[in-house]
Amino acid sequence: MERKEFLKTCGFGLVGLPFAASLLHSCGGIHYAVANENNGMISIAKSQFVIHPEKPDKLRNFVMVQSSRYKFPLCLYRTDKENYVASLMRCTHRGCELNVGGGIYSCPCHGSEFTNDGTMMTGPADENLKTFTTTTDAENITIHLS
Ligand code: FES
Repeated sequence: MERKEFLKTCGFGLVGLPFAASLLHSCGGIHYAVANENNGMISIAKSQFVIHPEKPDKLRNFVMVQSSRYKFPLCLYRTDKENYVASLMRCTHRGCELNVGGGIYSCPCHGSEFTNDGTMMTGPADENLKTFTTTTDAENITIHLS
C-alpha cells in the first residue's frame, strides 16, 4: 500500500470512528426486558428499568418486551413513577414495526407518529396503537394481554 493510500484509508477510519461510537451509544438505549409470560399476562420486574445497579435512581424511560402472542415487540413506557403504558410496536397504517425515540413512536415506512401512550399524532395512520392494561405492585409491572 502506498503512503498516500494508507493515509487516505486511515483518515476515513478516523472520521468514521465518532459516528460508529455514537451508533453504539444510541443502540445501548434499547433494553429488552427479561419477562415472564403466563396465562395472558407478562410480568416484568421494575428493576428492569434501572440503567446501572450502582445508580438505582437512574431509570430508563422504556423497555421493550417480547410476547409469544405477537410478532412485534411491546414497548413498556414509564409515563411517571408508578404509571406505565404498554403499546404494540405495529403501525396501524400498514403494519410496519415502529421505532422508539425522542419520547414518541415513529414509523419508518410512511412517517406516521404516535405518542408514547399509543395515540396517533401524524398520519397516514388513522388509528391509535393497540395498547394493553398494566398493573403494578411493589416490585413488578404486569401487562394484561387480553
Ligand atoms: S406502515 Fe406506518 S405509516 Fe405506513
